[in-house]
Amino acid sequence: MSSSAASSDREKVVSKLPGWLRQNLKIRAAQYGIDIQSAVEEGIRDWCNLASVVSTVDTAGSDSFATFLPDGQWEEFRQITSDRKVSLIQGLAQSVQLWLDTNPTPEVQRPAITRRIVVCNQKGGVGKTAITAGLGEALAESADSLHSVRVAKALTKAIRASDMHVVDTDSDEDPLEIEHLPGPGLRVLLVDFDPQCHLTNQLGAAPLSMNGDSLTNHMAGDPKGELRDLILSVEDDVFHDRLHLLPACNDAFLLDVRLSAVRAREAALERALAPLEADYDVIIVDCPPSLGLSMDAAAYYGRRRDNEKPGQSGVLVVVQAEDSSADAYELLTTQIDDLRADLQVDIGYLGIVVNLYDSRRGYIATSSLQGWVDIKDPRVVGLIGDLKEQKEAVRMKKPLLSYAPKSQQAVGMRAMAREVM
Ligand SMILES: Nc1ncnc2c1ncn2[C@@H]1O[C@H](COP(=O)(O)OP(=O)(O)OP(=O)(O)O)[C@@H](O)[C@H]1O
Ligand SMILES: [Mg+2]
Repeated sequence: MSSSAASSDREKVVSKLPGWLRQNLKIRAAQYGIDIQSAVEEGIRDWCNLASVVSTVDTAGSDSFATFLPDGQWEEFRQITSDRKVSLIQGLAQSVQLWLDTNPTPEVQRPAITRRIVVCNQKGGVGKTAITAGLGEALAESADSLHSVRVAKALTKAIRASDMHVVDTDSDEDPLEIEHLPGPGLRVLLVDFDPQCHLTNQLGAAPLSMNGDSLTNHMAGDPKGELRDLILSVEDDVFHDRLHLLPACNDAFLLDVRLSAVRAREAALERALAPLEADYDVIIVDCPPSLGLSMDAAAYYGRRRDNEKPGQSGVLVVVQAEDSSADAYELLTTQIDDLRADLQVDIGYLGIVVNLYDSRRGYIATSSLQGWVDIKDPRVVGLIGDLKEQKEAVRMKKPLLSYAPKSQQAVGMRAMAREVM
């Protein structure tokens, strides 16, 4: 145990703490968004002010722990440990435990109205399904552990360049550090709204049988049971039963035909999913690559409801940094504008996600990314690279964020989820 003078008004203190206590401290400080040194300072201050000794903390296996405390605090603390006849390590462990006890794990912030996120683009293969899954996984990750998050460097550069009206996606300055943050811990339902059943297959589930019940039946007003009974949990330690999937069925190929006979058909998805909303904080709909009645029903489901704040629910558009994506985007936004006008509803955008990005493709990629950033409303909320982990996770039928939790794609998905939240 030693202390040495450091810059400004804090001094570096080196002592010991057991690993489990260090880990709890790190997570809890991140949950409250404060520095570890401030938490330790508060804990020591409160411990010094206690009227009587608290229970002993098991300090077996302690090892090195360094932090910065206000000048003089360590000396005063050392004196009090000596008066109380406890070792410095025990006193420090009790102080940290005291801080943890007075700052319990915060409650997860749940939205008052279940948020509905409609992931769409009628252009095929842009990554709607990958983004739906990655977003849902990122939102469901545990709030009791830390996960790596980083905004893609190319995105911040493109945004900065757009503010300065200069295209500069090549310079390498100012890399953003990876942050380690608690997960949002939200209860998420992924809805596979695509007859191709890609999301269902990707997460290792089986498409629903054509003879049984399905979302299509519920939307067509012909249910064969409770929709809730079709839902599966995506099993994984980091999701702890918070990530659920409503699998698709090939019968969704007939959805547009069946919807044409349904009253107020744009509300059909809402009518089907409404009974499930109480169980979830977020419902994410993975749309098929088409524009039609089913897309109308999905966009309508994402409209802003009475008393819902803007930016909570809406459409998330997945695009690629290439020219053909821009035409597809125009078509999609025209359909959504028409729907807004025809039905007099407020359908908002939650952002644009540029997926499968590879700056090595040169000017087409970098200038297209700049083009998406320049739209500004909606703004680019995510930039996900074209990397092998996504394809591997699909092949392994595992969630990307548990298959490769530290991959660039995973840290990008978490950054995107935080932008959308
Ligand atoms: N960021 C990425 N890096 C590498 N591969 C990716 C990435 N995103 C998606 N892919 C792969 O690209 C293919 C198409 O992705 P995905 O199925 O998510 O697109 P989609 O828009 O949902 O397609 P569809 O229009 O058919 O529904 C898949 O094989 C997927 O694994
Ligand atoms: Mg898809």
